[in-house]
Amino acid sequence: MDNNQVLDAIYERRSIRKYKDKDLSKEQIEALVRAALLSPSSRNKQPWKLSVLTNKDLISEYEKGIIQHFIELGEEWIIKHNEARGNKIFYDAPIVFVISMKEGSGIDVGIMAQSIAIAAKGMGLDSVILGFPRVMFAEQYGDKWANILEFPEGYVYGISVAVGYGAEEGRQRDPDYSKVSYLK
Ligand SMILES: Cc1cc2nc3c(=O)[nH]c(=O)nc-3n(C[C@H](O)[C@H](O)[C@H](O)COP(=O)(O)O)c2cc1C
Repeated sequence: MDNNQVLDAIYERRSIRKYKDKDLSKEQIEALVRAALLSPSSRNKQPWKLSVLTNKDLISEYEKGIIQHFIELGEEWIIKHNEARGNKIFYDAPIVFVISMKEGSGIDVGIMAQSIAIAAKGMGLDSVILGFPRVMFAEQYGDKWANILEFPEGYVYGISVAVGYGAEEGRQRDPDYSKVSYLK
């Protein structure tokens, strides 16, 4: 089991919420896209669309919209939570993969997200999987973000993954073996 690069990537991946101001190369982006698209899906239906965001103005606009959404919602804990993270949702990552999906395909897109995260780790990059960006698809915003992100007709937000060169260690944690039953 030693020197197994896949296991190393899985064991060493952590959610990273601080990134260096350094873009990915075209080759790196293509490798991540390939890893994403080769993810398994139920009956190989591939019920997803991958929107690749590198436009910093667009990422910033999306982020500001999410922060504003929570402010307008008035939920104190989440406003404080966001403030504690510098009101960052994408944490200045140079690239964000937004995965939209056919309704009910959460498992498929979750696997795609993990493919991106593990591939990134294997390539010496870091990542964080993101559920929060979902809020910009609430009814009051209509199709604004679905159109901007080029979701296919009828697709809904699935999950996002921000990727970049990490500028922090990430929180170490041990496996919680109480979550396992070895059946006899
Ligand atoms: C479905 C899902 C949604 C998540 N959404 C967010 C998010 O919106 N913002 C964030 O900072 N982290 C988010 N995370 C990261 C989790 O907080 C993180 O995976 C968890 O705390 C375990 O830490 P680790 O990834 O460093 O092992 C999400 C993770 C998953 C799997």
